[in-house]
Amino acid sequence: MDDSRIDFQTEVLIIGSGIAGGITALQLADAGVEVTLVNRSKIPEESNTYYAQGGIVYSGEHDSPELLAEDIIRAGAGYCSTNAVKLLTMEGPKLTREILIEKLAVPFDMTESHELSLAREGGHSISRIVHATDATGMAIELALMKAILIRKNIHLLTGFTAVDLLTPAHHSLNRLRIYEPLSCAGAYLLDQESGSIVRCLARKTVLATGGIGQIFLRTTNPPGARGDGLAMAYRAGARVINSEFMQFHPTAFYQPNAPSFLISEAVRGAGAKLVGADGKPFMEKYDPVWKDLAPRDVVSRSIHQEMLVEDIPNVYLDLASYIPHEKVKEMFPFIYDQCLKYGIDMTVEPIPVVPAAHYFCGGVWVDEWGRSSVESLYAVGEVSCTGLHGANRLASTSLLEGLVWGYRAAQDIVGTLKDAPATMASDMPGWEDTSNETADLALISQDMSTLKQVMWNYVGLVRTTRRLQRAISELRHLEVEIERFYRAVKLNDDLVGLRNAVRTGIIVALAAWENKNSVGCHYRI
Ligand code: FAD
Ligand code: SIN
Repeated sequence: MDDSRIDFQTEVLIIGSGIAGGITALQLADAGVEVTLVNRSKIPEESNTYYAQGGIVYSGEHDSPELLAEDIIRAGAGYCSTNAVKLLTMEGPKLTREILIEKLAVPFDMTESHELSLAREGGHSISRIVHATDATGMAIELALMKAILIRKNIHLLTGFTAVDLLTPAHHSLNRLRIYEPLSCAGAYLLDQESGSIVRCLARKTVLATGGIGQIFLRTTNPPGARGDGLAMAYRAGARVINSEFMQFHPTAFYQPNAPSFLISEAVRGAGAKLVGADGKPFMEKYDPVWKDLAPRDVVSRSIHQEMLVEDIPNVYLDLASYIPHEKVKEMFPFIYDQCLKYGIDMTVEPIPVVPAAHYFCGGVWVDEWGRSSVESLYAVGEVSCTGLHGANRLASTSLLEGLVWGYRAAQDIVGTLKDAPATMASDMPGWEDTSNETADLALISQDMSTLKQVMWNYVGLVRTTRRLQRAISELRHLEVEIERFYRAVKLNDDLVGLRNAVRTGIIVALAAWENKNSVGCHYRI
């Protein structure tokens, strides 16, 4: 790496290249702004977005912003920000058409009469979700990346991990900047290949690092979802809200040694039913009105209860008895192939499933333009909390939230960039390595495994005061050890992730402990 990369400046630094970061970058680039887009993965499209299955909310027959708002607020247990709901329901479908369908030409499924094919998922009162079979995220992310790669003013850095945000109040060489309001001037980035830490100065910084599912033992999320953005923002002094609301998806594949990949809610939307070991459907017992299509928190807790009462390690999702075989393969080719890899042919037998950590409804507080409480720092997508989801997210609204707030953050940045002060390189210290000792990977993986166990057992689907107290004390102890280790060895991506994951775990556990009421996906007994 040449020296200029040890220290470089950019107009806008965007950390994360899923739908939220990708859309922000695209819109900025098309407005003539120079952007640096960073992904810790070496694969540009690697993100939660890439694995999204069911689809993205659009607009159904006889649909209206009011009807969609009603569904979102019901799922969110009344905790949603009405302003955020209004924004998404008014602007979302229009942006889906203009950006995803017209600008990016995402290949959504069409009906025989050449209309967009609309699916239904839990908590939706009608069918209104557009999809590309059961691999919608892949279709969106690949189209987005194709557009990004041909924009000359987007510099894409893959294999670079953001380590910490640069905040003059904390980092400046000029001690007097401590008296200024908190602001962000870029980030330190770890170049995984060389092992050096790059100081990247930016007029505006956008966090788009996605979710936190990997801090739990069982999750539908890929390895990068470990709370990096949340922890970095927290350390920078940003306001973080609603962190007790971790959504557990009811149906992740279950076999003791298999990954817990997602079985889309669209499968139940198409008619499949949750059944016990005896093959009998059980959701009517728990929610006689919505049954298998009740909001996710209700279905997840019903499964949990069923497993307790029946003393079974999992329940089953039965497609074979309710959907014609040819339809199963045609509608869900990705899930079909995944299940077959682990010996389950879902056209003839039920799929073993359990709930798994899926989506973080809390995050870095932002306003309607994606602005955080720290000046010049934006957050978009799953790392942020717009208030849209309240205490529980309605299916297929998350890709849309990333699209809407990614677009809006770009608009705000374009309008304010020329007034944003540039921080001088001479004012910010470069990174200083404190050690050349290579980090012991066994320690990192054992700590990560401890964290996942603690979060799953004590801060999971069902929480109690004692479990939460135990979690907080174990996590605090773990964090002390990890911080000591972090300062004593040379950084790598896993260690950066571990440090962020444990802080994220503490943020979630403390919020869960403080909120004594069961609401939405935060459930205490
Ligand atoms: P992501 O898409 O996760 O992107 C985050 C990016 O940040 C990644 O590129 C990551 O590598 C990068 N990153 C993280 N940390 C760092 C760091 N320190 N430095 C540099 N880069 C970093 N939602 C729907 O609306 N519909 C669905 O059908 C749907 N299905 C889903 C299925 C699955 C299996 C999963 C896991 C989620 C699903 N969701 C769905 C939720 C939705 O996919 C996510 O909430 C959404 O994609 C988040 O987008 P994002 O841009 O905020 O983050
Ligand atoms: C799914 O396909 O079930 C996931 C949809 C979502 O998380 O919104």
